[in-house]
Amino acid sequence: MVGLQWGDEGKGKIVDLLTAEHDVIVRYNGGANAGHTVVVGDERYALHLIPAGILYTDKVCVIANGVVVDPIKLLEEIQALRARGIEVGDNLRISNRAHVVMPYHKWMDEALEASLHGAAEGMAIGTTKRGIGPAYADKVSRALAVRVGDLLEPERLRRTLRTIAPLHAKHLAALGWTGATIDPDALAEEFASLGRTLAPHIVDTTYLLHDFLGQGHSILMEGANASLLDLDHGTFPFVTSSHCSTLGIPAGTGVPLGRIDRVVGIMKAYATRVGAGPFPTELNDDTGDRIRDRGHEYGTTTGRPRRCGWLDLVAVRYSCMICGVTGLACMLLDVLSGFDELRICTHYRLRDGTVTDRFIPDAKRLEEIEPVYETLPGWSEEIDATTDRAGLPANAQRYLDRIEEILGVPVEIVSVGPERTQTLVAV
Ligand code: GDP
Ligand code: IMO
Ligand code: MG
Repeated sequence: MVGLQWGDEGKGKIVDLLTAEHDVIVRYNGGANAGHTVVVGDERYALHLIPAGILYTDKVCVIANGVVVDPIKLLEEIQALRARGIEVGDNLRISNRAHVVMPYHKWMDEALEASLHGAAEGMAIGTTKRGIGPAYADKVSRALAVRVGDLLEPERLRRTLRTIAPLHAKHLAALGWTGATIDPDALAEEFASLGRTLAPHIVDTTYLLHDFLGQGHSILMEGANASLLDLDHGTFPFVTSSHCSTLGIPAGTGVPLGRIDRVVGIMKAYATRVGAGPFPTELNDDTGDRIRDRGHEYGTTTGRPRRCGWLDLVAVRYSCMICGVTGLACMLLDVLSGFDELRICTHYRLRDGTVTDRFIPDAKRLEEIEPVYETLPGWSEEIDATTDRAGLPANAQRYLDRIEEILGVPVEIVSVGPERTQTLVAV
């Protein structure tokens, strides 16, 4: 299960829906930058690090090696769920090889963003300030990293932090950080204590997942962030620091490509983006404001207003291609009720006038294109109480048909509201 745009497509809702037919739910990438919402009746849950499958009592949820884990946020999330009567015990497993987001990663994230804001126009990424980039950077540079398994060895953790803290302190100073400082011994004590609390959940998740597969269990991989934010394949440099397309699954879990037999791509019926970066179909006008109001388009993690625009099928088709999508979930279709006309971007016009149906995963070049639209008639009826696709207004059906034609992938799920019941599933 993977997001096909710039995030917040409604993945939480679909994970919750698909969890019913799986035994194990796995996060393979990202960290607390994700915010996945599940609405069950009057209850609304926002999951950041824990797979959205946790709301079911009989499923195992796994935070695999590809995730960067902020243990402070994770414990807050566990406690908040328990306070609402959700069981979090043996049903949550965390990879001993997942990397740890330390407080100084969050400071670096904040300091780098602030210095780019001040120094270089248009270069700040607009991150979630959850320390994601600096934590993955330490993973890649190896010697400076701390993994979840390291939290279980307090003496070694103290020695490591004593060695790496001065290097991190220099880096922070170079970024202009004047806030809190790193005390390696205090940090080692705090994180060893977090490690003791999390110890019952910490395992080698690669063998765990292969054991589950060997026993015939079915596994749902819950992609966080989205394919256009993928480090290699997204709108670089305005991306996140992990492989959030399905290409991140093998590396992030140890489960090989060949074991994946279905890929559900999640797309909004329009487009949003939060943070900086190119967004060809963005609407900085009343229509954009209307979509934001109707869709309550404000960030689940940061509360920031999301940028809104028309559906960009050049971008979604590219995501379907790199993710190997076999079926689509089209979300938030109800938000589009009441527009006279709807536009779908089918091609890009390049600066030299050439028209292409190929996406450009490069921020600078993508900023120069002009979207080419097809206009479809809208529908006036509210559709949030509709229960099957045939019951949708004719123009809403036509909109979905056109998406399928252009993408060449079936729409298996249509969502017309945040609740579990507001879902039209193809039979
Ligand atoms: P995620 O990050 O992909 O899980 O998405 P978010 O949870 O960040 O944002 C999606 C928002 O849309 C949440 O507030 C959901 O409750 C809501 N939502 C999901 N599906 C629908 C839908 O079909 N219609 C409407 N109106 N809201 C939806
Ligand atoms: P979910 O899983 C929307 C965006 C940030 C920023 C860029 C880099 O809820 O769909 P980061 O903190 O990761 O270094 O930020 O990526 N971003 C998301 N936008 N939904 C998300 O997750 C996102 N995760 C990261 O806004 O532009
Ligand atoms: Mg979200």
